[in-house]
Amino acid sequence: MVYECLLSQGQMNYAADSESAGAGYASWTNYSSTPYTSMTHGQRYVNNYANDIASAYARYEDAGVLPEGSVVAKDSFLMGENKSVTVGPLFLMEKMAEGWNPASGDWKYTMIMNGGNIFGVTNGKNSDGMQFCIDCHVVAEQNDHLFFMPDEYRN
Ligand code: HEC
Repeated sequence: MVYECLLSQGQMNYAADSESAGAGYASWTNYSSTPYTSMTHGQRYVNNYANDIASAYARYEDAGVLPEGSVVAKDSFLMGENKSVTVGPLFLMEKMAEGWNPASGDWKYTMIMNGGNIFGVTNGKNSDGMQFCIDCHVVAEQNDHLFFMPDEYRN
């Protein structure tokens, strides 16, 4: 599998940001049975990982409101012509303290480019450029702003 290859070769490289909430995400539970194409994240292949605090993610639509400290991480890659593979951004949602930012459901969105450069963070660097994450995810407000993945890709 291309994805296992990328992981084992260390090509999913968001490590320059080892301080981020997503550091070490590849050792968390991967809730996707296989990488699947996400139309809403640049039509890239993605996986959805969650840390231990976010273990209720396993219940999908019955998860309720995830506790502070929950982190959900979505890594991504593109397959081009001639089997070329390009690693895409790491998308993070980190649950902050209640009241931190009600408009985002207290989720802090972060987007880290391959190589480790941070594109933006809610209420941080390029916060305006990250508003589109909140604007789309708010549609799933009744599920704590989480969409989960299509049934066929659930573990
Ligand atoms: C146009 C809508 C849209 C936008 C914009 C969007 N997302 Fe998502 N996001 C989704 C959908 C739909 C899913 C679940 C299915 C999938 O992966 O395609 C999802 C899933 C996720 C997940 C996994 C958690 C979950 O909801 O189950 C993370 C993490 C995530 N997005 C982060 C981000 C970040 C960070 C941004 C901004 C850089 C962003 N998203 C922008 C629609 C969007």
